[in-house]
Amino acid sequence: MIRTIIKSTGRYLPERVVTNEDLTQWMDTSDEWIRQRTGIEERRWIPEEGDVGASDLGLEASKIALKRAGWTADDIDLIIFATLSPDIFFPGSGCLLQYKLGLNSTPALDIRQQCTGFLYGLEISDAYIRSGIAKRILLVGSEVHSTGLDISTEGRDVTVIFGDGAGAVCLEAMETDEPVGVLASSLHAQGKYAESLMVELPASRLNPRITEDGMKDRRHYPKMDGSRIFKLAVKRLPEVTIEALEKAGLSVNDIDMIFPHQANLRINQFYQKALDLPDEKMFNNIQRYGNTTAGTIPISLDEAMEQNLLKKNATLVFSGLGAGVTWGAVIYRMP
Ligand code: ACO
Repeated sequence: MIRTIIKSTGRYLPERVVTNEDLTQWMDTSDEWIRQRTGIEERRWIPEEGDVGASDLGLEASKIALKRAGWTADDIDLIIFATLSPDIFFPGSGCLLQYKLGLNSTPALDIRQQCTGFLYGLEISDAYIRSGIAKRILLVGSEVHSTGLDISTEGRDVTVIFGDGAGAVCLEAMETDEPVGVLASSLHAQGKYAESLMVELPASRLNPRITEDGMKDRRHYPKMDGSRIFKLAVKRLPEVTIEALEKAGLSVNDIDMIFPHQANLRINQFYQKALDLPDEKMFNNIQRYGNTTAGTIPISLDEAMEQNLLKKNATLVFSGLGAGVTWGAVIYRMP
């Protein structure tokens, strides 16, 4: 039977550290408020001069993952690029990354699933690999949030939570009778909550797509109904985890480690409590990076791999909820 395994991982976080204290120079906030409400202590932002897009961070993470896999870029059958902050409006960052990797005609697919980009990307990859369409896939989650944030007090609820960063995984087909690799996934979306977390401009439904008035009204910045998203997350994350585990024929007792999306440490604490799991089974690093959206899960996984936390046959859960709203969970067993 063909199974999809994670052959290697890589991550890239820009060097510029922005602490909670640093944010107080632009907006009315405090280290205490941010830590208490979100768990975040600092995040990484690209250099102030800019000129670094999601594909650039993705490139650095990809180079590490490719090297660890022992692949050259030519070995890749498909690139899947997950981001809500593409370098430009179109074409997608996957094409830009493909070129930066020195490739000529390798297909590149962009997905716009925000915080669940890695989860959707993993399920798509698994379908491609198990159907035999592809054998080797590079899946990247990358975000440059910092250039699109409202750093005034008006935008403080959203701005304090986001960071820049990228994670990449090399996915490969493995012929095996063992239940390893991607075991099951459950994905969902509920477009009725689209306006609970969105960046509206530029918008194809408007003509022109962006105006000075629109910008004066700050409609080119993210807008979030934080408490609605929070309540949805604490309900949906345990629910979808159990749903995906059941699909895999497993239960909560089988979980060795959850890699939840990093949107708010408090969300993950409620999630952990709902499943009655000990601290060591919940991987969190939001304290250091904030919410890097499509990047959070592959960045976390890369850190856990580096720390040698994941043994053979460990059962992992990747899960998240974010803009769309979209949510989901993927069950994975270490080969
Ligand atoms: N600093 C200081 N005060 C602040 C800040 C800040 N950065 N932000 C908001 N406040 C104030 C508010 O103005 C409000 O003041 P008031 O009581 O005088 O009106 C007060 O703090 C409480 O504001 P709330 O928005 O109710 O704060 P809450 O406890 O809900 O925390 C937060 C806000 C952290 C955003 C939380 O709602 C949250 O994490 N929501 C979920 C976010 C999420 O999961 N997003 C999805 C992923 S992102 C993606 O998909 C792209």
